[in-house]
Amino acid sequence: MADDSAKLIEEEGQWHLVAKELEDENLKLASYDNTLLPLLGDLKGKKVLDYGAGPGVLALAIKRLGGDIVVYDINPDMLKSAGEKIGSENIFHSIGEIPQNTFDIVICNLVVCIVSEDEVKEIVHNITAALNTDGTAYIGFCNPKIFNIPESNLDLRFQTGDGYEVNHRYKKVKKEGGYEIIEDHRPIEWYEGVYKDAGLTLVDKYFTPEYELKGNKVQDFIIFKLKKA
Ligand SMILES: C[S@@+](CC[C@H](N)C(=O)[O-])C[C@H]1O[C@@H](n2cnc3c(N)ncnc32)[C@H](O)[C@@H]1O
Repeated sequence: MADDSAKLIEEEGQWHLVAKELEDENLKLASYDNTLLPLLGDLKGKKVLDYGAGPGVLALAIKRLGGDIVVYDINPDMLKSAGEKIGSENIFHSIGEIPQNTFDIVICNLVVCIVSEDEVKEIVHNITAALNTDGTAYIGFCNPKIFNIPESNLDLRFQTGDGYEVNHRYKKVKKEGGYEIIEDHRPIEWYEGVYKDAGLTLVDKYFTPEYELKGNKVQDFIIFKLKKA
């Protein structure tokens, strides 16, 4: 149920308001992070950029696995929190600081589904520029295919009546943390067009493990694996 006193995150610059909640999202971690990390393979000595790293939970996991991890986030409070985990020297405060043609792996998790269409294009362009010629990007977010289910293990969703093919925004209440967000729904095919236009080739698509809730089959997240064309 919507709660009038719940925090509402409706713009990309507001995520510091729920930094603590993001750090404690164990269900998200079990679903998303545990799907993504094995896909990354042996991280030892790999140059990895986490784009939109939030408080740095995944970045810390990558550091512990031997990855040479650096992060960027639009939000200074998030960067501070991530810096406390992986070292403040491993943080980029602006896009201009991110070296180009450098990274073996760029990850971008749960970011492009909360920003405008133009910003998605900008982020995908920046990710492409940061990858080295043989680099791989993993861009993941909430599975657009389940946009019309009212409830998952992670959240309650308010339907707008718009169809799958229609880009639209809708509200979610996060079960972990109890805060509300406005999410952008866009079909998978829309994202695939953006990747192609930016010069990325789709290698594969992965979904987090399926479960059943109230009669609906749910896979919470999608992760795209992409290479520079
Ligand atoms: C839902 S959190 C996800 C954090 C983290 N990637 C994770 O998996 O837990 C979204 C993050 O994206 C950041 N963000 C929003 N817009 C951004 C942008 N245009 N560029 C970079 N980061 C952005 C927010 O500040 C926030 O830290």
